[in-house]
Amino acid sequence: MCGIVGILGREPVARHIVESLKRLEYRGYDSAGVATLEGGVITRRRAEGKLRNLEARLAEAPLAGLAGIGHTRWATHGKPTEVNAHPHASDGLAVVHNGIIENFRELRAELTAKGQTFTTETDTEVVAHLVGDFLRQGLSPREAVAATLPRLKGAFALAFLFEGHDDLLIGARQGAPLAVGHGEGEMYLGSDALALAPFTDTITYLEDGDWVALTRDSAEFRDVAGRLANRPRIKTQASAFLVDKGNHRHFMAKEIHEQPEVVGRTLAHYLDMSAGRVRLPFDLPVDPAAIDRISIVACGTAYLAGLTAKYWLERFARLPVEIDVASEFRYREAPMSRDGLTVVISQSGETADTLASLRYAKGQGQKTLAVVNVATSTIARECDVVAPTLAGPEIGVASTKAFTCQLAVLASLAIAIGRGRGAIAPETEARLVGDLIGVPGLMAEAMKRESQIASLSHHLSRASDVLYLGRGTAFPLALEGALKLKEISYIHAEGYAAGELKHGPIALIDENMPVIVIAPSDQWLEKTVSNVQEVAARGGRIVLIGDRKAADEAAVTLDGFVAMPDMAPEFAPMVYAVPVQMLAYHTAVTMGKDVDQPRNLAKSVTVE
Ligand code: M6R
Repeated sequence: MCGIVGILGREPVARHIVESLKRLEYRGYDSAGVATLEGGVITRRRAEGKLRNLEARLAEAPLAGLAGIGHTRWATHGKPTEVNAHPHASDGLAVVHNGIIENFRELRAELTAKGQTFTTETDTEVVAHLVGDFLRQGLSPREAVAATLPRLKGAFALAFLFEGHDDLLIGARQGAPLAVGHGEGEMYLGSDALALAPFTDTITYLEDGDWVALTRDSAEFRDVAGRLANRPRIKTQASAFLVDKGNHRHFMAKEIHEQPEVVGRTLAHYLDMSAGRVRLPFDLPVDPAAIDRISIVACGTAYLAGLTAKYWLERFARLPVEIDVASEFRYREAPMSRDGLTVVISQSGETADTLASLRYAKGQGQKTLAVVNVATSTIARECDVVAPTLAGPEIGVASTKAFTCQLAVLASLAIAIGRGRGAIAPETEARLVGDLIGVPGLMAEAMKRESQIASLSHHLSRASDVLYLGRGTAFPLALEGALKLKEISYIHAEGYAAGELKHGPIALIDENMPVIVIAPSDQWLEKTVSNVQEVAARGGRIVLIGDRKAADEAAVTLDGFVAMPDMAPEFAPMVYAVPVQMLAYHTAVTMGKDVDQPRNLAKSVTVE
C-alpha cells in the first residue's frame, strides 16, 4: 500500500526520495508527495496520480532541503487528490503515514473542539495536529511523538520532520512495516529494504510498537513502553536486486516468464532430487503423526494456493484441512487445539489480515508455519517456522510467480507430512517427487502457447463477463483465473467448481459468455467433459485449456483450445497456471490497462 521514504542527507534529498519512492511504486498508489526542510522551514510538493506528476512539480519548483520525507499514497480516507496527498504539514511539522488511524473520528472531534482546523479528508491529519498540540504545550519533538503514539489506534507506520530541527527524523511503527537504513553520515527511513537499497545495505527493522529518532549519526530506538531498545542491524540482499523489467513490457510478463526458473529453484530447496525424496529445510513444528488437522489461512491468490494444498494434504497425508480467508478467520473466534498446526501463506508477509490470523492462532496455542516470499517480513519474523518461497521480488500487483512457488512449497510440505504420517509409501513419494521435478520443464513448454493465447485474448477483451470452470485441483485454479482476469482487465469474471454449474451459473450461459474450462487429464476429466458439453449445448463460447485427450473427449466445437503438454495430473495446477496467467495478462494488455498497477489495488495490503 502506501510507501514511506525519509532521508537525512548531506546534499538535497528530494530527487533521491522520489527515486526511492519509485522502488515502492509496485505497492500501488494514487498520489505522491515530498517535503524537505529548507532553512529550518518545511516546504512540500504534492501531486495526484503517478510519480511523474510529482517529478514535473519538482522540476518547476525544486526543493533544496537536506532532510526530507516522501510518500506514495493509496487512498483510504478521502479521494486521491493533491489536498489529501501526504506529507501533511501543519503546526511546525510534516508527517507521512501508511495504514489507518482507526480512532481518527474521535481524535478529530477532540482537536476540533480545541480550535484546530482540518483541511483534508484524511485520517492522517489528526496525527499532525495531535503532535502539534503537544509541541505547543512545550514538549520537544521526541516527547510529542512519544505522547501521541499511545493515543493512536490501528495499524500504521509514520515518519515525521520538524521545523527548526534539521538533524532529526522520527519514525514509528505499529502494524505496518518500517525500516531504518544506516549510511555514512546519513540516515534513511523506508517502508522496506527495497526502497533503501540504492543508499545502504545495512538495515534495522522496527518491531511492532517501536519508534525511532534518527540524526545523521545515530538511531535511537524505543519500544512500545518507551524504553530504549537494541534492534539488530542486518545486511540485506535487496541492493543486489535491480528493479527493472528486462526485455519485457511489464513486470507481470517478466514474472510469468521467470516461473520455470524460480519454481525450479524453490523445488531444489525442498527436494532431494537424487534420492527422490522431499527434504524440508527446517524441522516441522509439530509431529505430523500426532495432529488431527491443519488450518490454512491466507488472502487472495495466496488463499487459492492454500485451497490447492488442501487437496494435496488430504490426499497425500490423509489429514483434514480447514481453510479460511484471513479477513474472516481473524474475527471468527475459531476454537483451535493447543499444539495443532496453522499454515499461513503470504507473498509479502505483511498482509494485515493474515498477520492478525497468525497472531490469533499463536494465541490459541497453535504452532505456526508461514509460507512467505519476503524473508524479512513481519509474518516471517513472527511465525514458528518459515517455509520460504524463492520467487525473488514480485513487483506486479497480480501475483504470478509467488503463486506457483507457493504451490511448489505446499506440494513438498504435503508429501513430507504424508511421509511423516505413514500415509504414502517411499515409491509413491519417489513418483511424486519425480513429477515435481518435471514441473519447471512443463511450464517452459506451456509458455510456447503464448502467441496463441495472445490471439485468444482479443476475443476475451470484448466480453463483459467470463466464467472459469475446473474440478479437483483445477477448481482453485479456476478461481485464480477469474481473480487474475478481473484484477488487471476489470472484466467481471467468476470461477466455479464445474460440478456447481447446474446449481445456478448455467443460467448465465449464452453465446456472449466465454467459458474457460481448465481440464487436465486427471480423475475428474470425464466429469469436466460432461460439463463442457452442457455449456456447448447452451451456445456457450468454450476455451478449453487441456491436453489432446481432453480435447478429443470433449468432442464439441471450441472457440479456443490451448494445447497443454501431457503430464501426471497431481501437480498440473502449477503448469496450467501459466496459460491462465497469460490469458489475463494479454487480455489486459489488449485493453490497454495498467497491468502492473491496476486501479484501486495495492501489492501489499497492510490495512484490513
Ligand atoms: O502478500 P500476500 O500474498 O499476503 O497478498 C495476498 C493478496 O493480497 C494477493 O494475493 C492478491 O490477491 C493479488 N493481487 C492477486 O493477484
